[in-house]
Amino acid sequence: MRVPAVLFPADPLNPLRPDPHFVREARLLRELGGKHHLVDLDALLAGNLGEAVRRVPRGCGPLWYRGWMVPSAHYTALARELGGRGANLLTSAAGYAMAHELPGWYGVFEGATPPSVWIPVPVPTAAAAGGVPAPGPAELAAAVERLGGSGPAIVKDYVKSRKHEWDEACYIPDLADLPAVGRVVARFVELQGEFLAGGVVLRRYEEFERAGGAGGDNGERRAVEARVWWLDGEPVLVGPHPDAPDHPVEPDLTGVRPLVRALGCRFVTTDLAGRADGSGWRVVEVGDGQVSDLPRGIDASGLLASLIAA
Ligand SMILES: Nc1ncnc2c1ncn2[C@@H]1O[C@H](COP(=O)(O)OP(=O)(O)O)[C@@H](O)[C@H]1O
Ligand SMILES: [Mg+2]
Repeated sequence: MRVPAVLFPADPLNPLRPDPHFVREARLLRELGGKHHLVDLDALLAGNLGEAVRRVPRGCGPLWYRGWMVPSAHYTALARELGGRGANLLTSAAGYAMAHELPGWYGVFEGATPPSVWIPVPVPTAAAAGGVPAPGPAELAAAVERLGGSGPAIVKDYVKSRKHEWDEACYIPDLADLPAVGRVVARFVELQGEFLAGGVVLRRYEEFERAGGAGGDNGERRAVEARVWWLDGEPVLVGPHPDAPDHPVEPDLTGVRPLVRALGCRFVTTDLAGRADGSGWRVVEVGDGQVSDLPRGIDASGLLASLIAA
């Protein structure tokens, strides 16, 4: 069996080196006896596929990607282009979309994650400079109805929230206040602009344990989360969330493990938060392990060693 190599984004300023954000991982990988190759993400996102992968040796075999998030459509294009060179990403395009986008993983994790509904929005095009139109009042009212009609909620797209603009573009105090739902969603869509992924998601707000009590910046009331890295259904790294790297959390994985296995994606992360009333762990979000950020200062050697042994 061939040993997988790891594909990192190239440094836009020096295409022969990994992007500075991934230099430490690339060094650690080398120390573990692993190999890396480089992809030009600017070229990928511009649709220049041949250019994007020109430094990946033909016939190099199995590959994991470790890098910045890319939209699912671009990952699909990357997987196809690499396949044509005899280099195969170990996470398929379908597997990437499943773990990366909430509607992909939600069905499997329903009951273990806050109840959620979503409204797809048209794919932004270059012509739609300034982004996509927000869902209209009737669509929002129907979505609110499906989510129970009242109570606090969170807005995000299929991949990311605007958690740093908590009050204006993330948190909805009461779903029954439809004009307020419309305002927060419209602001979220406006701020996401052309980067809005997939559609608008509404999730029921749940009280999680928080560090240091009430507010952070801008009224944020964010949970303390653990990020668990899973490879082939086993947790290979359990650490803090990158947003609070110094805050250790020890989640109980009993309930999550079978769900990760049911999802069937080889390399994923789950962000877990403890309920404020101490009644157990909730899955805040699932991610593709290839594009999940590592918390600063964590020892990733076990994770990387597992990847190249997979
Ligand atoms: N349903 C929810 N209930 C309570 N807090 C939530 C909920 N969803 C998200 N949050 C809070 O908002 C933050 C951002 O949400 P998340 O889904 O993780 O989006 P992002 O991809 O932007 O990190 C979370 O870290 C958590 O603190
Ligand atoms: Mg998150």
